[in-house]
Amino acid sequence: MPLKSRITGTGSYVPEKVLDNFELEKKVDTSDEWITERTGIKERRIAGPGQNNSDLCLEASKRALQAAGLKPRELDLIIVATMSGDMPMPSTAAVLQHKLGAKNAAAFDINAACSGFLYGLSVADKFIKSGASQKLLLVGAEVNSRFLDWKDRATCVLFGDGAGAVVLEPVKGNRGILSTHLHTDGSLWDFICLPGGGSQHPPSSKTVKDGMHFIKMKGNETFKVAVRTLERLAVDTLKANKVDPSELAMLIPHQANLRIITATASRLNIPMDKVAVNVDKYGNTSSASIPITLDEVVRAGRIKKGDYILLEAFGSGLTWASALIRW
Ligand code: UT7
Repeated sequence: MPLKSRITGTGSYVPEKVLDNFELEKKVDTSDEWITERTGIKERRIAGPGQNNSDLCLEASKRALQAAGLKPRELDLIIVATMSGDMPMPSTAAVLQHKLGAKNAAAFDINAACSGFLYGLSVADKFIKSGASQKLLLVGAEVNSRFLDWKDRATCVLFGDGAGAVVLEPVKGNRGILSTHLHTDGSLWDFICLPGGGSQHPPSSKTVKDGMHFIKMKGNETFKVAVRTLERLAVDTLKANKVDPSELAMLIPHQANLRIITATASRLNIPMDKVAVNVDKYGNTSSASIPITLDEVVRAGRIKKGDYILLEAFGSGLTWASALIRW
């Protein structure tokens, strides 16, 4: 029987500092009513001073390793999905490897923005299935708050900080990751971007003055593509596995906007009690949103052995991705 990858432990961590909509009303021209109605977000977490991406990764990873019953030294590979790493180089995964004491693990980052965790899951699945990795740690982590223009109400109300982690191991049988699906449309790269600081616009006083180190988003245009795309993605993923939407135990969507989540669920006829939602508490934590949500669902006992779980995400690139898991 061919190998499958199975998630054998989950963990997550969000910073202590809560920033609610009422506090944001004092910083920028917005209202709790607008944010709640248009996004479903009530509050988000903000990393403390000196708390870096790798620190968030570390806490989530420790919890995932504990759940899997593994020691850091047993890991052979660490992948961190992020767009807000500690620094451009080395990878945040390398820093995490050191902080964890996971001396036997190779480590690298991947960046597919909000789809990053599912891109990472697809890569991880291939490492495990090929036999190249036996014990793999995959983390999605963001400190988005450091890349927000707190004067831009169209973006600063949306994002938050956090990290989620999973441990993957090979198994035989019919449980585990059934399939992953990755897509990109680079022609829409400027729908969501952070234009400054790379080789196109290296850091300079001008890039700082022009606010090029902040996240920019064409929100409404992105919204329309997201709703259309996510429905098709979910349908194709289920079809590829001959699973009917009614057989799904849980949909775990990327947490960007409650309206996108409910639109996808209703187009697929999935009742909201089978949809995991925490965008109200954390806002959009980009690549951390799916692993944080998965960890919450697992720890709350909302999924059981043999359940079909569909994960789907959409983000900058534009990228979109999905995974079907038999838990
Ligand atoms: O995770 C990666 C993928 N990202 C997404 O999927 C995000 C997709 N987009 C969205 O979630 C939504 O488009 C937003 C929540 C970003 C915006 O919602 P919208 O319903 O598309 O609003 P809009 O951008 O069309 O703006 C409507 C109005 C505008 O005012 P006018 O021009 O109608 O007078 C905005 O200036 O709302 C105004 N507005 C705000 N008002 C109060 C925009 N942001 C705010 C705000 N507070 N924070």
